[in-house]
Amino acid sequence: MNRRQRFVDLRAQRPVILPSLLMCDFGDLRSEVDRLAEAGIRSLHLDVMDGHFVPNLSYGMPIVAAIRELTDLPLDVHLMISEPEKYLDAFYEAGADCITIHSEASTDLVAACQQIRSLGAAAGVAINPTTPLADLEIALEVCDLALIMSVQAGWGGQSFEPIALEKLRELRAKVGDSLILEVDGGVNASTIAECASAGADMFVVGSAIFKQPQYGPVVDELTGLASS
Ligand code: DX5
Ligand code: ZN
Repeated sequence: MNRRQRFVDLRAQRPVILPSLLMCDFGDLRSEVDRLAEAGIRSLHLDVMDGHFVPNLSYGMPIVAAIRELTDLPLDVHLMISEPEKYLDAFYEAGADCITIHSEASTDLVAACQQIRSLGAAAGVAINPTTPLADLEIALEVCDLALIMSVQAGWGGQSFEPIALEKLRELRAKVGDSLILEVDGGVNASTIAECASAGADMFVVGSAIFKQPQYGPVVDELTGLASS
């Protein structure tokens, strides 16, 4: 099965909680990945930041490739970088199953999504809270996932912005069941249920998981809240 298909198939198991590996212990990635898998996690969200599209810097292809060596879990790579088109091949080679680019960073969103799909990965398009849904909608025919940011991309640990709920509702009403809707930023036990009722299938969670000493209980709690 190709990577795009195995990522798209995850949606059948919704709600899918994706830990954002931004606040994890990078000195012991093996144990972090093992602990997440033991907690029942089915896919990992990798936040790539370039210090240009967003002020913050995180990591690039070598860390994605290192995580690929550690696990068979599908890798959901969120590119917060300028000129993402230049790096699509490299992130696919590093092991990405889904590659998400920001509409604000791309000069030709449709072509970039087509390129991601032709590599064999699922294609995602992200929009920041201040970006209108229309900017993402131009790529609806060629993407597999819409990432509705509920914080301005750049840092973990920010507060959830409710504008994301309106966008999720509007988009779900428009696309029916045909698209994966993912929400990212400030998703925790207080906000996840509303995101689920608004139509999200996939929930990126950073601080609400990594600030806990054990991952299993919080993953179960979040999954329960998103299911009810
Ligand atoms: C923000 C990143 C998120 C973030 C989530 O730019 O895309 O994935 O790390 O972290 P929390 O859940 O702490 O908002
Ligand atoms: Zn992210």
